[in-house]
Amino acid sequence: MAELRRRAHEILRGNWRGGFTVPTARLYPFQWNWDSGFVSLGVADRAPLEAIEELENLFRGQWANGMVPHIVFHSETETTYFPNHDFWAAAEVNAGAPRKPRTSGISQPPVHGFVLEYLYERYGHLPDVVDGIRRLFPKVLASHRFFYQYRDPEGEGLVFLYHPWESGRDNSPIWDESLQRITISPGDIPPYERKDTAHADSDQRPTGRDYDRYVYLLELGKRHGYDGPGIWEESPFLLQDVMLNAILIRANEGLIRIGRQLGFSVEEAETWQKRSVPAFNHKLWDETLGTYVSWDVRGQVPVRSREVGGFVALFAGVPDDRRAQRMEQYLRDLRERGFRLCPSYDPEDPLFDSARYWRGPIWPQMNWLLHHGLLRYGFKSTAETVRRDLLDLVDRLGFHEYFEPQRAVADQQTRGYGGDNFSWTASTVLDFLREG
Ligand code: GLC
Repeated sequence: MAELRRRAHEILRGNWRGGFTVPTARLYPFQWNWDSGFVSLGVADRAPLEAIEELENLFRGQWANGMVPHIVFHSETETTYFPNHDFWAAAEVNAGAPRKPRTSGISQPPVHGFVLEYLYERYGHLPDVVDGIRRLFPKVLASHRFFYQYRDPEGEGLVFLYHPWESGRDNSPIWDESLQRITISPGDIPPYERKDTAHADSDQRPTGRDYDRYVYLLELGKRHGYDGPGIWEESPFLLQDVMLNAILIRANEGLIRIGRQLGFSVEEAETWQKRSVPAFNHKLWDETLGTYVSWDVRGQVPVRSREVGGFVALFAGVPDDRRAQRMEQYLRDLRERGFRLCPSYDPEDPLFDSARYWRGPIWPQMNWLLHHGLLRYGFKSTAETVRRDLLDLVDRLGFHEYFEPQRAVADQQTRGYGGDNFSWTASTVLDFLREG
């Protein structure tokens, strides 16, 4: 375990770019929004102040409307990524988008509210860290305000996304039906060249058809300055994602807790919570499946499948005990059926694909969310399984981006999937080792 810890620190140091951490060197050469949240917890393990620096550099990309973009392009000369800053053209279409650093035009799950809470709990005895948390607090609050102002036009308490990349679970089968609504005619999208398949196996990446749709939605956002009301009116792809909303709720809670201790007003966050928690419980629970699911706003239907995002409701403390028990039972059953926890998608569903991006593999930061969610409800042994499974996989197969969930298959492998030397894999390992 000492060796695993040493490797994890080495990876984080190797991915540090003087102020922020890239998810992995070649595939993702910039700063990613929710990655940075998880990564700052790992960075803090060695240098708590660098965790603050990491987050402050991310928030340098924050827009005037409060949005924290999903990518901050600290370098404008790096050309190995598509869509790069010039394709997003954020500052060209929205006066509130920074010109330096350049950014993308969409967001990602707002983890920073609970990240600040963890940092405060662990390093609150260090005055410089507390100062940093104080500087970040209003910015994080503003990023939540963005979601409630721009992504919840009917004041329901549930916020929408209009691009799969905003969910953090880019290629999940839960987007398939909604994406199929998008029909692309010649000339609808500009010509482009993918870069991801040059750095990772194409059978572990999204298909070309999906990529066209991603570009289509990007262009739709661009036409509306990435925050205009036209997005809600026009986008063929519009969903209340179960995980984005669970994370927002958990992050509100984090802000409320530390805000009280640091003397900030928390009224606004409390108002959000009062609307969001009941709405989430009422609208997103699926009694037959025994989990929470996303809501397709455009189709006015639930997206009925068991996928890992729904289980983040545990971390948000949303379900009552009966619901929580059903969710935990499902995870235990999976384990008994020969899976490591936790596959990103239901293995019983025909769309399950154990090696393809978000359609089955295990993701480290998802295990982190689940582990803490299970602990919150007192499911100690399943929480421990989630922790152990990930540590074992990384130990045997390396610090990859994602992993094979079928035990029998993974046992024959020598490496994980996707990118290697991955930052949030290292960070999750460090966090899990704290408990070991
Ligand atoms: C992929 C993941 C996303 C992550 C990014 C960088 O796009 O789907 O969640 O933020 O990679 O690691």
